Amino acid sequence: MDAIGIGLIGTGYMGKCHALAWNAVTAVFGTGPRPSLLHLAEVSPALAAQRAVEFGFVRSTGNWRDVIADPDVGVVSITTPNKFHAEMAIAALAAGKHVWCEKPMAVTLADAERMAAAAQTSARVAVLGYNYIQNPAIRQIGALLAEEAIGVVNHVRIEMDEDFLADPQAPFSAKSAASSGYGALDDFGVHPLSLLHSLVGRVERVLAQMAKPFPQRPLRGGRTVETWDIASILLELEGGVTGLLALNRSAWGRKGRLALQIFGSGGTIVYDQERMNEFSIYRATGATHTDGFTTILTGPAHEPYGRFVPAPGHGLGFNDLKVIEAHEVLAAIAGQPARIIDFAAGLEIERAVHAMAHSHHTGQWTPV
Ligand SMILES: NC(=O)c1ccc[n+]([C@@H]2O[C@H](COP(=O)([O-])OP(=O)(O)OC[C@H]3O[C@@H](n4cnc5c(N)ncnc54)[C@H](O)[C@@H]3O)[C@@H](O)[C@H]2O)c1
Repeated sequence: MDAIGIGLIGTGYMGKCHALAWNAVTAVFGTGPRPSLLHLAEVSPALAAQRAVEFGFVRSTGNWRDVIADPDVGVVSITTPNKFHAEMAIAALAAGKHVWCEKPMAVTLADAERMAAAAQTSARVAVLGYNYIQNPAIRQIGALLAEEAIGVVNHVRIEMDEDFLADPQAPFSAKSAASSGYGALDDFGVHPLSLLHSLVGRVERVLAQMAKPFPQRPLRGGRTVETWDIASILLELEGGVTGLLALNRSAWGRKGRLALQIFGSGGTIVYDQERMNEFSIYRATGATHTDGFTTILTGPAHEPYGRFVPAPGHGLGFNDLKVIEAHEVLAAIAGQPARIIDFAAGLEIERAVHAMAHSHHTGQWTPV
């Protein structure tokens, strides 16, 4: 089995998730090339060295450019804060590396455009970390939509809510600074948009409103919050599908809600990431005494669930979605069909996000 050298920049929440995925992907899928965890970067040499031991990397550095300059590294995982994505991804592509970069693509649309152009020029694989599209439940929903199991889709409603900024006393952090982006729109909104992109189609027009529930947060006597934790958006998608996107990072009680309802001429499909191993379908049969939603637990029938567990209903977890994503990244590198959101598709998502922000400021419907 061939090997491919892995570089990793950033070792926080997502850095560990990528490291777990690179470590697991060959054991889970049994296909090559086998990732060889080579070179990892953090903000300090000491932290990098510690993480290299924990994650199983051979080399470590306090300077991310060392990872990109390493001739043995074939693909670079970029899991640093949003404001670094563009510079690191463009440098990695220029050095001839494949790139797997966390979402959102970049803070500004200009940077996202530069990233997409760099990917196109490099002819390397450049993938964004849209893990939720990898869920076997989501894949099955896509297959059902393709066979028109709920008829012709006419409306979608999608919500993403968490409560890590629900406490008014939560201190000012990077998530509240404009250097991270708009707030809920690009921190959260890109994930539902990746699902819509994969399942329904591209967003063509938006009308958005953003809100700051807590304009000040504690930090040395109080600091003005620069991002919006709530956003509500009306959508028009291709093919005349209308939609509603609701985002809230200050939604008490919501831990990882990414709730999708797809309405069609012959039924409805419902999914929520907080119950990521199931989805429900309602088919309008006319049997009014017995009709209702059917809930399907995922199992080996839903690819690639069976690669992880042979028993249905036992469930995958969040980190497993990254293992599937790593497999798709390797497939794309091998020139095989892959279920990915590359930088070109990611730019479409970024255009939608920036159109939403523009709409908030003008109060007008805005084309994407
Ligand atoms: N796909 C998902 O579901 C998902 C979930 C959470 C976060 N994210 C994205 O992942 C990215 C990272 O988020 P996180 O939650 O892991 O953040 P984090 O703060 O937990 O980790 C970021 C790491 O990057 C390191 N870092 C910062 N600057 C660096 C530099 N110049 N060189 C090397 N390392 C550097 C930090 O020290 C930290 O360890 C963000 O873009 C975020 O939007 C994606």
